[in-house]
Amino acid sequence: MKREIIITGDGSKTIHIPEWDEQYHSKHGAIQEAQHVFLKMGLHHYVSQPSYQKETPIAILEMGFGTGLNALLTFFEAQKLGTPVDYTGIEAYPITTEEVHAMEYVSLVKEKEVQQVYDTLHSTVWESKEVISTTFQLTKRQQRFEAIVDENMFDLVYFDAFGARVQPELWGEVIFKKMYTALREKGVLVTYAAKGSVRRAMQAVGFDVERLPGPPGKREMLRATKL
Ligand SMILES: C[S@@+](CC[C@H](N)C(=O)[O-])C[C@H]1O[C@@H](n2cnc3c(N)ncnc32)[C@H](O)[C@@H]1O
Repeated sequence: MKREIIITGDGSKTIHIPEWDEQYHSKHGAIQEAQHVFLKMGLHHYVSQPSYQKETPIAILEMGFGTGLNALLTFFEAQKLGTPVDYTGIEAYPITTEEVHAMEYVSLVKEKEVQQVYDTLHSTVWESKEVISTTFQLTKRQQRFEAIVDENMFDLVYFDAFGARVQPELWGEVIFKKMYTALREKGVLVTYAAKGSVRRAMQAVGFDVERLPGPPGKREMLRATKL
């Protein structure tokens, strides 16, 4: 499918799929959305739970590695928190080198060596666990979500598939059951979505689900916990 680069509300870029009128991130702000949904409501929430022991590595599963923006922001957050992150990104259709260069996150992500880190996240080989820094390991898996069979492997899932409007098959009980199985006990899944049918599918496979305030431009989002 054709992909084009667009600028979102906070000045950061993302990819738009004209055929579906769908984006890789919120049109209101790609960085803002990632920081709110995945870092604040996901990673920060996870490390602030009483059961979390400081400095224990956190295994994150990202559903839809895409531009690598969520991974990039998580890299710097792990560094700040001093928490080692073992990050696995699933992606069936990796973006091209030209698209990686076009994202230009260096001007908006105010961290040291952003471009080098971003290039490294994209240039590491697929299907292999790579050490990126003392607090970040990355495994990129070129795989369809439907083929995931991991069990008790992850602490946190960033569920960042395209919306249910365009890919309803990814927001039902079949995929959420896979997520439930892939998570360890007390594991957490966060997503930007807030639809009632999505929440009910999560509950049907055993998750405890919270409705939380969404990122700018979106009223709510969901967080699901494996009890
Ligand atoms: C909303 S975008 C993810 C954005 C990404 N998290 C980022 O930071 O750029 C959804 C991603 O899921 C991928 N995708 C769509 N259908 C898929 C499938 N069935 N299996 C695996 N990946 C899929 C797309 O190629 C796209 O990269």
